[in-house]
Amino acid sequence: MNQHDVIIIGSGAAGLSAAITLARTHKVLVLAKGELAGGSTAWAQGGIAAVLDAGDTFENHISDTMIAGAGLNRRETVEFVVENAPAAIERLVDMGVPFNEDEDALHLTREGGHSHRRIVHVDDATGWAVQDALQKTAASHPNITLKPHMVAIDLIADRHRESPDGSKNVWGVYALNNETGHVETLTSRATIVASGGAGRTYLFSTAPRGATGDGIAMAWRAGARVSNMEMMQFHPTCLYNLEVKNFLITEAVRGEGGHLKLPNDAGSEAGERFMQRFDPERMELAPRDIVARANDHEIKRLGLDYVHLNISHRDPEFVRQHFPNIHEKLTGLGIDMTTEPIPVVPAQHYTCGGILIDLAGRTTLPGLYAAGEASESGLHGANRLASNSLLECFVFGDAAARDIAEHWDDLPEPPAINPWDESRVTDSDEEVVIKQTWTEIRRFMWNYVGIVRTTKRLERAQHRIDLLREEVEEYYSNFRVTQDLIELRNLIEVADLIVKSALARKESRGLHYITDYPELLDQAVDTILSP
Ligand code: FAD
Ligand code: SIN
Repeated sequence: MNQHDVIIIGSGAAGLSAAITLARTHKVLVLAKGELAGGSTAWAQGGIAAVLDAGDTFENHISDTMIAGAGLNRRETVEFVVENAPAAIERLVDMGVPFNEDEDALHLTREGGHSHRRIVHVDDATGWAVQDALQKTAASHPNITLKPHMVAIDLIADRHRESPDGSKNVWGVYALNNETGHVETLTSRATIVASGGAGRTYLFSTAPRGATGDGIAMAWRAGARVSNMEMMQFHPTCLYNLEVKNFLITEAVRGEGGHLKLPNDAGSEAGERFMQRFDPERMELAPRDIVARANDHEIKRLGLDYVHLNISHRDPEFVRQHFPNIHEKLTGLGIDMTTEPIPVVPAQHYTCGGILIDLAGRTTLPGLYAAGEASESGLHGANRLASNSLLECFVFGDAAARDIAEHWDDLPEPPAINPWDESRVTDSDEEVVIKQTWTEIRRFMWNYVGIVRTTKRLERAQHRIDLLREEVEEYYSNFRVTQDLIELRNLIEVADLIVKSALARKESRGLHYITDYPELLDQAVDTILSP
């Protein structure tokens, strides 16, 4: 048994923020499934929202967040995050994040749903700069141990104890060490799940390959509540390209004047802007759910492969300066965004639901905390406002760490835990089946549980899940664990939570649009599932 003060599952913005705060007082072990920079954080483009301009107010940011979230947000969480945003940005500046500047102040860009310019950014590759600064700070701290290539399998709960006593505590995690091939039993007094979202439950997603909802599935299996899993966010503008499947074109392109238009094969409507038919006031800067649905609607109505995002009417030097990485990537693919439109489609982008937490990052299980995209804090409600996600990671990573430090004496020492049973063998035949099942899940989730839903399709998805779950459980019980098998088991768990939550919501709100219940109910109620 390998005992630690605190174990953090995840080395993205949430996990590293928590580690850096905790390291002032405790020793921390941070696990990452692959490379330390392998999560969504490093891929973030647009930036981080914060009220930093004299003409803007906290109330504006709160109100924009609640409007985007279709009223499902918990106001006290929104206030907490918005009010802590400037301090979070200051910490990042102190860690050396080279945010773009405009004369003496930080440059603020604009994105959909924001009534003011309030997005700090590092060109169009903010996430990379943030990940780099956090990682360097964490790596240089003597109290932080960073361990990549460790795949957390299950949280250690009462049933794993040598002498179970019915307690609900979480005491660490079993994790597959991909370098040795062995499963390690890692115990701790507190555990933070910061393992990111579940984007890869869907066939098309902007998220990295590891976004398989592991932490959400692990917490659920350990007995924690999850909420609002039906609120899956689709980004309106993922590049349409036959070779590059998940390259995001940041919302800031629309923020800086980009227009959505119908492409050449749209017949007599070719070249027309269409957002005026969906949101005449905000047009391309409407919240993401509205723009993604509009793109999806036009693509289906006209039988198109994509719609166009065009910023070629702006000065080419401005475009190159603001979007250097996107410009370079597109140039490599033969698209010059300064002179021609970019073909785009909607793709899954963000998991608004997750492990239910309170303002201190506490889950419903003692000793278990969560932060970032794996959690549901009440900030995003039915639809996340652009660039509020990284912000949530910094604020809740820090809050969870503070709560652990403050309540350290109340967190009991881990008891004796049974080691992992390593007697099972690998069956290479089954490995092919695992890959196929993975693709099958992602395909039916895309087709049946996508941007526009119906009860019939959700029930069809539920039926597929029930059948596949039996198969997956059988592989899992009989064979040695591999990363693919661990992820597949989590994928089916998370798909089940998404579909069950979607079936439970009898209205259309924010990201959950279901044709059988097109109306919004008077009261906004969270979908909370209990194991
Ligand atoms: P991640 O950064 O995803 O990190 C997850 C960590 O958990 C990784 O270290 C991973 O290895 C680890 N992990 C996962 N499973 C396991 C396991 N089983 N065992 C061990 N470790 C595990 N948000 C914004 O606010 N602004 C933006 O501009 C923005 N742009 C985006 C662009 C793209 C392309 C994408 C995909 C997302 C974007 N987002 C943006 C969303 C934002 O990047 C993410 O929500 C945020 O980075 C999530 O951070 P996190 O720390 O919760 O998780
Ligand atoms: C983007 O840059 O469009 C993504 C921003 C976000 O996901 O908040």
